[in-house]
Amino acid sequence: MVKISPSILSADFSKLCEELRLCEKGGADIIHLDVMDGHFVPNITFGPVVIKSIRKCVKTPFDAHLMIENPEKYIKDFVDAGADIITPHIEVKYPIDTLIKKIKNYGVEVGVALNPDTPFKKVVPYIDKIDYLLIMSVYPGFAGQKFIENTLDKIKEAKEYILKENLTTKIAVDGGVKHSNAKKIIDAGADILVAASAIFSGDIVENIKKFKKF
Ligand code: DX5
Ligand code: ZN
Repeated sequence: MVKISPSILSADFSKLCEELRLCEKGGADIIHLDVMDGHFVPNITFGPVVIKSIRKCVKTPFDAHLMIENPEKYIKDFVDAGADIITPHIEVKYPIDTLIKKIKNYGVEVGVALNPDTPFKKVVPYIDKIDYLLIMSVYPGFAGQKFIENTLDKIKEAKEYILKENLTTKIAVDGGVKHSNAKKIIDAGADILVAASAIFSGDIVENIKKFKKF
């Protein structure tokens, strides 16, 4: 069954704890935390201080999607804040293989995110070392954007490779995921759907349950 990862970017930040509990009630598998620094992406969100304070709200694992220029500087901070998975972007300057090792050394899981214009082949040398491949289906920075259709080809390519090589890496898809396009994203090979606007507008519990029915 597909796993659901609500991105709190579209949550009501004045009642984050309450909304996280609704995510847990709906059966969310992983909470997706969009960390943005205003450099790697043209938007600023939140960091370890906020993550630490919401860690106590639910038991659901936390994935820190780091859309920041220097993730290597902050790994310990995110681990100490309670992140269970740390997902930097492959497009950062710091060598991704060293970053993966550093994250794993803290005993947490590791993901690697790919921007829409980064080909799958870039991650191939590292894919057997990561727990999650986060395929971006919008240009990162904002919630509520439209799903980029040719992402489906990248998901299929990744899935075929993972199956051929007998790897355990899970494919997560992030950006523009709705109930209306969930089936084709799952059929292409997604194991985890990340969604912000489709979950936090309306009934959070029902929105998650509806995704889990696919
Ligand atoms: C985009 C973020 C996504 C975003 C998804 O920069 O990485 O996680 O919150 O938002 P929706 O689901 O509304 O496209
Ligand atoms: Zn994200």
